[in-house]
Amino acid sequence: MLNIDDKNITQAVLSRISIPTDDRMHTIFTGLIEHLHSFAREVQLTEQEWEKGIEFLTLVGKYCSPERQEFILLSDVLGLSSLVIAQNNRKPAGCTESTVFGPFHVAEAPLLEPGDDFSQGAPGTPWFVTGKVTGIGGETVANATIDIWHADGEGQYDVQAADIHGLRCRGVMKADSQGNFFFRTVVPEAYEIPSDGPVGSLLAAQGRAAWRPAHLHFMINAEGYQRLITHVFNKEDEYLNSDSVFGVRASLIADWVKHAPGIAPDGTFCPQSFCTLDFNFVLNPIS
Ligand code: BEZ
Ligand code: FE
Repeated sequence: MLNIDDKNITQAVLSRISIPTDDRMHTIFTGLIEHLHSFAREVQLTEQEWEKGIEFLTLVGKYCSPERQEFILLSDVLGLSSLVIAQNNRKPAGCTESTVFGPFHVAEAPLLEPGDDFSQGAPGTPWFVTGKVTGIGGETVANATIDIWHADGEGQYDVQAADIHGLRCRGVMKADSQGNFFFRTVVPEAYEIPSDGPVGSLLAAQGRAAWRPAHLHFMINAEGYQRLITHVFNKEDEYLNSDSVFGVRASLIADWVKHAPGIAPDGTFCPQSFCTLDFNFVLNPIS
């Protein structure tokens, strides 16, 4: 096509795609081009704004390293991660909802025994967490593998802080034959997502804060069931309605119960105030 103009450019680009129309890539490329062009038309994008956008994306790329994935962070704050997770994890009523994975999981976390304290001296209020893994009808899911990770009582992840050496506040344990699990750690606090880069500038430009409400991450694998990646949130957290990455789901908000010093759930005497959480996970069977 000659005489390209702002009216026919979309069709001109689409007509160059030579993949069968029933190919998934055809659907994705077509949708991408159509929506990108619609966006530019709708906001009447100027050349200076286009340049700014290119500069921004270039900087996002420059911030990426083996330790930091600024593009995923961008997807998170734009709500794209949350949308993709929600539309790919529709489950029968009663199943535990999935939410964002986040960048702070470590594949080779320490293996834990039931009841272990994996805080490794991290600051924070002692926390005793119990729970059970079941199927939708309440049937026992035995020996699930439970991967747990969280920020400490100052809102910091071990992998984020240069002054923290070694792994802490993370581990992998097995639920028992009845699906029960129990561990000890410290209560995590709310934290701000990394905002010293272009994603931080984007949040500031939108007048948004970088806070995530306090949460505990779980990844649960059991034979015959879909993998569950989720969080559990504290019902008293002030940022539940303004999570910078849109990870909160009402069904994942729980009571993190405060206790005065005394006998803890593991039978030991806890000389300081402590917290408990009891949360059950319902897995979706692989059909
Ligand atoms: C997290 O919960 O660890 C997280 C999720 C998305 C972006 C940054 C952090
Ligand atoms: Fe987190």
